[in-house]
Amino acid sequence: KTIPATLIPGDGIGPEIMDSVVEILDAVGAPFAWERHIAGMAGVDAVNDPLPKDTIESIRKTGLALKGPLTTPVGGGFKSINVTMRQEFELYANLRPTKTIIPGGRYEDIDLVIVRENLEGYYAAMENTIPANGDKKGIALSGGYVSRKECERIVRFAFDYAVQNGRKKVTLVHKANIIKQMCGMFLEAGRKVAAEYKGKIECDERIVDACSMQLVTNPWQFDVIVTTNLFGDILSDQAAGLVGGLGLAPGANIGEKAAIFEAVHGSAPDIAGKNLANPLALLLAAVMMLRHVRRDDLADRIDTAIKNLITSGKVRTRDMGGEAGTKELTAALKQALV
Ligand code: NAI
Ligand code: MG
Repeated sequence: KTIPATLIPGDGIGPEIMDSVVEILDAVGAPFAWERHIAGMAGVDAVNDPLPKDTIESIRKTGLALKGPLTTPVGGGFKSINVTMRQEFELYANLRPTKTIIPGGRYEDIDLVIVRENLEGYYAAMENTIPANGDKKGIALSGGYVSRKECERIVRFAFDYAVQNGRKKVTLVHKANIIKQMCGMFLEAGRKVAAEYKGKIECDERIVDACSMQLVTNPWQFDVIVTTNLFGDILSDQAAGLVGGLGLAPGANIGEKAAIFEAVHGSAPDIAGKNLANPLALLLAAVMMLRHVRRDDLADRIDTAIKNLITSGKVRTRDMGGEAGTKELTAALKQALV
């Protein structure tokens, strides 16, 4: 049985890494029936729209997308396409797993997941400037908000994820000691939801700055972290840095009606078209997508091939300290599939 899904190759390194990922998905017989659509600069160039209607309609229909990185055009009044998509489909949860793949580094055996609230917080972009000190724009203001409903929903998502994925603990990360209203509401909602899972999933709390330090000194203590938008953005990049950087970091934007899977990294214009990009972050996102549609069997096969290939150390892209290109890595990975 095939599953309709939207495929957006993206900009910069997007098309190269998407080719690689589709090749691997085809090799394991992934069930997706792709509807190919454009967005980002590709959309601007073709139809002067970074998020064409056809693309939106396709995702609305399939409820499932694999997306390459999109270049947000600077100027021209274009809003961030990623933020627009998250709002359009109410993708309230951003799921970012961090797992050690390259052995022999400083952080062996890391396996944690960050759940980031994806719609509210400071990303609401309520910004302005006002005159002060004889300067027309002497003061810059940035506001944010959270709703109790969304706080409860994101924390519940984290606990449900923990239950469904054999996780033991959820850590609520906040700054309620200083940002008393916004983070206070998140913490209060978090504690309320946590109580519903008592005896099943453990819950603890961290103030975000301490959490950031502990992610470096002892990341193994964390299992699932759930937090508000800005903190989640920062902590998930920090966590990616523990295990080899952006070339290995996948993410999923999940809502009730749609889910969009992508790499955490951007379009990497500095290396685009040079056969240098690491396709593994996008491939790991595709693996998450396979698990999302309950094809853990195929996901496990790809995970194992990646692990075996990387552990053997023979074929790695430049960002992983090797010399292989995107194509060589893809070919070797295909060979490594069992
Ligand atoms: P970036 O993630 O594209 O690049 C940062 C650095 O990491 C660069 O040196 C790049 O070469 C390297 N890098 C990234 N992915 C890599 C990979 N797969 N393999 C090897 N090296 C890799 O971030 P940057 O330069 O800040 O953004 C470039 C563009 O991407 C911007 O237009 C930005 O708006 C967009 N962007 C899009 C995202 C998305 O669509 N989800 C996320 C982040 C940025
Ligand atoms: Mg980020």
